[in-house]
Amino acid sequence: MEHRLSMDMVKVCELAAIESAKTMGFGDRKKSDKAAVEAMRTQLEKVDINGTIVIGEGERDKAPMLFIGEKVGKGKNNPDFPEIDIAVDPLEGTNLVATGSNNAITVLAGSEKGGLLYAPDIYLDKLVVGPSSAESVHIDMEVKDIIKAVAKALDRKVNDIVVSILDRERHHNLIEKVRQTDARIQLISDGDLSAGIAAVVRGSGIHIVMGSGGAPEGVLCAAALKCIGGQIYSRFLPKDASQKERLKSMGIDHDNVFTKETLAPGNNILFAATGVTNGSILKGVRFFGDGIRTNSILMTNLEHRIQFIDTIHFREKGKMPIWL
Ligand code: FBP
Repeated sequence: MEHRLSMDMVKVCELAAIESAKTMGFGDRKKSDKAAVEAMRTQLEKVDINGTIVIGEGERDKAPMLFIGEKVGKGKNNPDFPEIDIAVDPLEGTNLVATGSNNAITVLAGSEKGGLLYAPDIYLDKLVVGPSSAESVHIDMEVKDIIKAVAKALDRKVNDIVVSILDRERHHNLIEKVRQTDARIQLISDGDLSAGIAAVVRGSGIHIVMGSGGAPEGVLCAAALKCIGGQIYSRFLPKDASQKERLKSMGIDHDNVFTKETLAPGNNILFAATGVTNGSILKGVRFFGDGIRTNSILMTNLEHRIQFIDTIHFREKGKMPIWL
């Protein structure tokens, strides 16, 4: 994707983050999500693309959403504009913003047509690891063996390994199994996408993500991993016959293991995210009165680089002192 288009996509995340951050701590996750969705939709309309939303978020929790199949972009339905598939999570961590907690981000991924799996918003069982252990683990291995393999690949003791798991009742068995290995655990209230990215970034303090979370977050995580390395092993977890049917109608076999190559098969992938609240990789939105500062990450799988973008948005042109 050309540079200007990539920067336009970053701006989409930035503006969604700003609008959502204005609701931080209000205790109203729907309001925070809606603010992000509306800003993202408005800003996407200004981008020179013929875009289609292939992953929208919010279906599972009936939140406001950019819906699957929605056409977006200045050139929507116009074949003269680049045809881009877009996966969005306008606000990853709605509760985190509602409570002013860390690690909420606004996210999108783009690709050529067909480059991101068209997946419904149901649960996906996930195992995310960094590049050094990508080949030595699998989602069907015993928990203790996964942890041992990651420790070996990183040349560390098992007790040095930190596993990030969503703090949910459905994960009690998993948490117990991890505790029996002596590995350490970071229980997170929300945000397994941020955790997944952190797991492949050295120095983040997280080495593995395990457990089930949203499928949209899984596809977005796969898109990020296509750009920075590491691997996700995942399997859909349909809760009933209708979800099984839904997956089947989309050509998805719920018994299959999906990796970053099958969740995000595109050759031309872009991933952008902006911090809403402070996190381990991105700072949250800061309001100064006469300006707003955002911190974003931009990566593509075609270029061997990652950009961290620190932007100051002037409220009035030429009136903003630069703060360091
Ligand atoms: P939202 O941003 O939609 O609130 O999702 C947050 C999140 O924690 C995701 O990171 C995770 O994949 C999913 O929800 C887990 O779902 P659940 O809360 O149902 O366990």
